[in-house]
Amino acid sequence: MQPQSLALPPRPVLIYICILTAILAGLLYGLTLLPSKSAPLVGDLLFWGLLLAWSYGTWIRLPFSAYISHSFIILLASIVLFPPWVPPLLALVFRFKKLSNSYPWYKDLFNRVQYGLSTGLSALAWYYLNSTFHLGELTSVVAIIGTSAVFFAVNVGLVISVIRLSSGAPVRKIWASNFSWLSSSYLLLSPVALFLANAYSKPLVGDWGGFTVLAFMVVFYFSRFYWDEKVKLEDAFNATIDTLVQALDAKDNFTRLHSERVSAIAVDLAKAKGLDEADRRKIAYGARIHDIGKVGIPDDVLLKPVRLTSQEFELIKSHTTRGVEILKPAARYFKEVLPIVLYHHERWDGRGYPEGRAGDAIPLWARIVCIADAYEAMTAGRSYSPPKSPQRAMQELEDLAGDQFDPELVKLFKEIWLQDPIWKDREVFLRSYTSPVPLSELPSLSRSESASVTSQELS
Ligand SMILES: [Fe+2]
Ligand SMILES: [Fe+2]
Repeated sequence: MQPQSLALPPRPVLIYICILTAILAGLLYGLTLLPSKSAPLVGDLLFWGLLLAWSYGTWIRLPFSAYISHSFIILLASIVLFPPWVPPLLALVFRFKKLSNSYPWYKDLFNRVQYGLSTGLSALAWYYLNSTFHLGELTSVVAIIGTSAVFFAVNVGLVISVIRLSSGAPVRKIWASNFSWLSSSYLLLSPVALFLANAYSKPLVGDWGGFTVLAFMVVFYFSRFYWDEKVKLEDAFNATIDTLVQALDAKDNFTRLHSERVSAIAVDLAKAKGLDEADRRKIAYGARIHDIGKVGIPDDVLLKPVRLTSQEFELIKSHTTRGVEILKPAARYFKEVLPIVLYHHERWDGRGYPEGRAGDAIPLWARIVCIADAYEAMTAGRSYSPPKSPQRAMQELEDLAGDQFDPELVKLFKEIWLQDPIWKDREVFLRSYTSPVPLSELPSLSRSESASVTSQELS
């Protein structure tokens, strides 16, 4: 058998990568024709190249779940320092990541080429801004922001298209779930690159600018340790939830990824309701474990292919209270999401379970997950009932608004549903979730709130 590291990507992805490589070759040639400053010294190239090679995979976590990659700053600084053909070459060459089964050659090539293109086109933008406006101190800040906007647009555009090619997920939705807010991080941090470039060309310490750059990068690098601890804790929490969800999935394969899709829907609905990011993140956790009580239901009832007797239905209904029981040892950490587990089957008219709460007496987060759960269940189907079309399921939600569901939330749901979210069609959602080209440092689509990055790449 062929080792995976030599395997070919899906055909459209392969063609895409070939086209991008050809464009990059053309761009590099074009850039060498531009009249520009003299070629840099080998020592300068090595210094920035090695700095760049080190910076890949080094992320600093910023507030609001953002990450900034050092490589973006370094590439931008090299655009300021060197003739325009140099930075894309650095991006293409100085990248030492070992190939493996999970990181085959085509992903490596794609990442090199997409960084090369993002850098090359932004170098071109910087070149034209510089030669047209003869930049001063203040204007160069504006120009570097413009240059980083080009970098952002190309970088994200290329990554979005490869995800689109490999998963078929709608572009607008990939953008909205993952990238829309990122532009501000890029733009705000780009002046740091200008500072680094200036520090390099006008040494502050000794007579080599590299000292200042290194000192700055070391501070930058170590600042991440504080964040790392926080990230590790969050990872541990996430892994615990993953374990719980997988235990449930293993039991009932029919509802595979049910919780993930419910979570994706609930987060979007919570956003439409105006809930802030911290709340949305908790709702995502709660939604992922909302059915955890089902691990306590015997298989012959849970997986029964025909309609349930009323006694069996009572047993199924107990998954809400069982869920709370299961989570009890960790109640301190799950406190805020327990109402989701307990009340996601309450009805607006008070005829739900387990307590028969009505209207606003049902916690808002549970009402949100309730709608997400119903939509996902209807469009997924069950062993005893075929799946409904998204349109039919939407219609049913509307028919039951005010009886089973919070009518105001159903209205909001319809608004986002009309915008073709990625979860609207179950097949599209599953495909994007289990895409053959992994979504890289992109957050899983259903966990759009939990992590996002700048300087996108496939990993
Ligand atoms: Fe449930
Ligand atoms: Fe459910």
